[in-house]
Amino acid sequence: MSDGSSFYITTPIFYVNDVPHIGHAYTEVAADVLARWHRQAGDDTWLLTGTDEHGQKILRTATANGTTPKQWADKLVTEEWLPLLDTVDIANDDFIRTTDERHEVNVQKFLQKLYDDGYIYAGEYEALYCVGCEEFKPQSEIVDGTGEYEGQKVCAIHSKPLELLQEKNYFFRMSQFADRLLALYEERPDFVQPESARNEVVSFVRQGLSDLSISRSSFDWGIKVPWDESHVVYVWFDALLNYITAVGYGQDDEEFARRWPANHLVGKDILRFHAVIWPAMLMAAGLEVPKRVFGHGWLLVGGEKMSKSKLTGIAPTQITDTFGSDAFRYYFMRAINFGQDGSFSWEDLAARYQAELANGFGNLASRVVAMVTRYFEGIVPPAGPYRDVDLHVQEVVRTAAADADAAISRLAIHDALTAIWRIVDELNGYITEQEPWALAKDDAQRELLGTVLYTAAEGLRSLAVLLSPVIPAATAKLWEALGVSGELGALTAQPLRSAGEWGQLPAGTEVNGLEALFPRIDAEAGAAV
Ligand code: ME8
Ligand code: MG
Repeated sequence: MSDGSSFYITTPIFYVNDVPHIGHAYTEVAADVLARWHRQAGDDTWLLTGTDEHGQKILRTATANGTTPKQWADKLVTEEWLPLLDTVDIANDDFIRTTDERHEVNVQKFLQKLYDDGYIYAGEYEALYCVGCEEFKPQSEIVDGTGEYEGQKVCAIHSKPLELLQEKNYFFRMSQFADRLLALYEERPDFVQPESARNEVVSFVRQGLSDLSISRSSFDWGIKVPWDESHVVYVWFDALLNYITAVGYGQDDEEFARRWPANHLVGKDILRFHAVIWPAMLMAAGLEVPKRVFGHGWLLVGGEKMSKSKLTGIAPTQITDTFGSDAFRYYFMRAINFGQDGSFSWEDLAARYQAELANGFGNLASRVVAMVTRYFEGIVPPAGPYRDVDLHVQEVVRTAAADADAAISRLAIHDALTAIWRIVDELNGYITEQEPWALAKDDAQRELLGTVLYTAAEGLRSLAVLLSPVIPAATAKLWEALGVSGELGALTAQPLRSAGEWGQLPAGTEVNGLEALFPRIDAEAGAAV
């Protein structure tokens, strides 16, 4: 336990009807980078992810595959969704499945409380439902089908026909919460981010809210409604509650108080569930609303959202098998402004890998370690008196570190990386100008050579610390090479918010050989993908 402030961050829990693609990995990586950053800054951090296993979509997939939904979910979780976390190097603290008993029992508790308090009633319902979204669709998201669905109403997101459902359901009195929600968005302008997402949510709620159907009786793959076991809980109502059942709601008050409220990271496709329905549910239960809901953009393929249902998904391993997990993480965090849509391209990935990771950062690390080895027998030299150019490097390190931390606190991960890369560029320029290889030829310049190499090595120390949340594997190797774990401790224990303070690398430590952090990827492999 740390005495830092609490930072609880969540990803959506993903449907297990199919395998993960890079869109899911993208959310995981963003959440993990933020979590690692806060953890390393000493905040009391908790990263939750997991899987969403109930509802019609999973039931139909399992049936189509000749198995039961639970067996299907077990298989997909074990063979696909847990391995995804290794593929992109996620350091999550917990993984919740909506079929976990800790979840099911407390969903029932929550529902019973709302029922007892008069927020739930029985009613009749008839509306168009999208099984892909698991949602009764609002008019604004119903469009005319084309091609094979000509003449039918289809979902604007999935482009598949909607189903007319007519049932007796239980309803949540969500309509009562419109004013309180609008007041929330007004009082806390950063509750929904980014700004475009907030505007969309505000204008949606301004039109007024209907009550929400929260149970289904035509199938039974779900959590039973406690007072009427002929109904199961609507899959979204069930799923949203994972964010509190995973941290002790109904079970462990101390843990719950320690973690809640959360920062929710979601794709903009499911923003409304998180920014409207979810806070209304929490208000009804008398619980605190989330700290914030951030709706990031979509990875696009041919201008459309990459998706499983449209078969445009790229498997994360297609990228990591060639480029590695660090490059995956770096690329998506750097190339896409967090919050906006982005198009993935192999050319762009390969170009950034080569220019920024291999030539920019990797090469810098190798050169500095090699020069310390060659000119000082592997012992980091002390710096002599600093000149203006050396002090300038220190200033760049200090301001870049501060800017990166400020960017992270507003969830602008891309800006944090841009700031950190000022250090990479500064150090590369510094070495080119200072020409340590020339200084090394002149004994009279020995002290100055020490200043230059100490400055470069200490700059690398700051880079290792600042980049460790984004590229944990490469920075761990660099930390080893710098040979400082004995003096400074583990890389992940380096306080992030003072990473920019100059002079932490002790002179006199012995560096170790460093293999290429981002080895050249031969054109064959690059072209084959
Ligand atoms: O909606 N670009 O699960 P889901 C970026 N179970 N991110 C993408 C993406 C893309 N093209 N495609 C998917 C569900 N994602 C519910 C959530 S939460 C209580 C329940 C990511 O499997 C993004 O995070 O359809 C998106 O919101 C999520 O996957 C949807 O995953
Ligand atoms: Mg989806």
